[in-house]
Amino acid sequence: MFPARIHDTRELTRPGAEKRTYHFDLDVTQYPGETGVDFKVGGAIGVMAPNEVSEVDEVLDRLGTPRVLRDRPIKLRTSRGRWPTVWGDDQARELITTRRDLLTWCSDIQSYPPNKPLLRVLAEYASDENERKILMLLCSSEGHGIFCNLRNGVHLSVSQMLHAFPSSQPPLEMLLSVLQPLMPRFYSLSNDPHESYSNRDGQQRRLVEIAVTVHETCDWKKGCRTGVGSGFFERQSRRFTAAREAGEKAPEIYIPMFKGLMANPLARQFVSDGPMLLIGAGVGIAPFRGFVQRRLKTANCANKVWVLQGIRDSLVDEIYNGEWGIHEEEVKRIVESRRGEGHYVQEEVRNQADLVWYIINTVDGRIFVCGSTKGMGEGVEEALVEVAMQKGNLEREEARNFWQLKKEAGQYIAETW
Ligand SMILES: Cc1cc2nc3c(=O)[nH]c(=O)nc-3n(C[C@H](O)[C@H](O)[C@H](O)COP(=O)(O)OP(=O)(O)OC[C@H]3O[C@@H](n4cnc5c(N)ncnc54)[C@H](O)[C@@H]3O)c2cc1C
Ligand SMILES: NC(=O)c1ccc[n+]([C@@H]2O[C@H](COP(=O)([O-])OP(=O)(O)OC[C@H]3O[C@@H](n4cnc5c(N)ncnc54)[C@H](OP(=O)(O)O)[C@@H]3O)[C@@H](O)[C@H]2O)c1
Repeated sequence: MFPARIHDTRELTRPGAEKRTYHFDLDVTQYPGETGVDFKVGGAIGVMAPNEVSEVDEVLDRLGTPRVLRDRPIKLRTSRGRWPTVWGDDQARELITTRRDLLTWCSDIQSYPPNKPLLRVLAEYASDENERKILMLLCSSEGHGIFCNLRNGVHLSVSQMLHAFPSSQPPLEMLLSVLQPLMPRFYSLSNDPHESYSNRDGQQRRLVEIAVTVHETCDWKKGCRTGVGSGFFERQSRRFTAAREAGEKAPEIYIPMFKGLMANPLARQFVSDGPMLLIGAGVGIAPFRGFVQRRLKTANCANKVWVLQGIRDSLVDEIYNGEWGIHEEEVKRIVESRRGEGHYVQEEVRNQADLVWYIINTVDGRIFVCGSTKGMGEGVEEALVEVAMQKGNLEREEARNFWQLKKEAGQYIAETW
């Protein structure tokens, strides 16, 4: 894991945006070069974000772990698996750590619904008979319906479960044995990392840039809680900005990261010539900023790249507005879902049927799609099928096959999550 220092950060959205998005310049000057694979346009870095301090304390409070023990070194022995890391071989491990570090860095305590192993451990240690019965019912086949409702309804965290069943205080090691490992989160590079440098303290620094949209979900106690990864980024951005405002010139704040995915579809299929249509919504547009930067550096081909950007409202969430080079007006078209009549990006795909058909039928033409799979990704795919039906006189099934073949040929690239 590499500690990338935040070189700079800013909020890309304005007050009133439904989702807040932050930009980060991360200093990777010292990133070890041993792997041989460099950062790539369209690649994504991996980030190991910790759980929030207050959430960890809440769990330790509910377990009744005395404060003096929380940071005291302990010897951890595991019999198998990779935990407490997500790296290396499946094997027995032994290391010195602390209870707080284990809950902060190694186990997921909030981002997935309670599962049966957790309920069983809570039942085993519940001293109250009624609590134990409820927990056992949830684990049984008769209680399966209620269990499913519990998983699919509100987003329960481990601390909430411990609050709901206060008589159950399992030993920390039992709880850790049933929690899932805390997994890295991935963030697409929003710049061209090949030639991105800036100066600090008289030295040239190499930067990778990302945009992070904050995920929020309902929380029984706080009203709302942020996602593990995006919430961590938001807190770091706010700390950085507050330190700057307090007069600190270069606050020292780090992001634990690794090179992540540099052979994902966006990174693999990006080439710096040939006409490209880049279709994205929300923060899905971020990697395309790097595509356009790279393109503008390598050739004067502003007329060979087009961007369709789906946003909610240009007054508050048009991220990276004004950062697409001097031809932005010609290159980029925004589609607003909450201003005026409200449109989605796939409607513009239909309006641009001629352009879509020209690009996809050009030997080195490529169409990229990035954003959320549900809704946007599916909607754009449907619009592309309709374009092929209209322009190519194809039946629906033939049109689907057409895009499937273009996908296999690396000309139609959809990376959606
Ligand atoms: C290749 C790739 C590139 C990506 N690039 C970007 C990027 O450039 N920018 C960007 O912002 N994101 C990007 N993402 C998404 C990013 O990796 C994270 O998924 C995103 O930030 C959310 O992570 P989180 O830890 O903040 O949220 P999490 O804590 O993981 O929560 C995610 C969602 O899970 C649900 N949830 C939370 N708690 C519970 C619960 N207890 N029970 C049930 N459901 C729950 C909620 O709906 C919540 O929104 C990318 C993903 C991939 C795979
Ligand atoms: N490399 C990658 O794979 C990669 C990189 C970056 C981001 N991502 C993913 O991209 C997604 C971006 O999400 P976000 O949270 O920033 O934005 P978002 O919530 O998906 O919304 C962005 C825009 O899409 C609109 N939208 C909603 N439903 C739609 C539909 N059916 N068809 C078309 N547009 C629709 C929204 O409109 P309304 O709200 O008005 O309906 C809004 O204007 C995330 O899931 C992220 O993980 C992936």
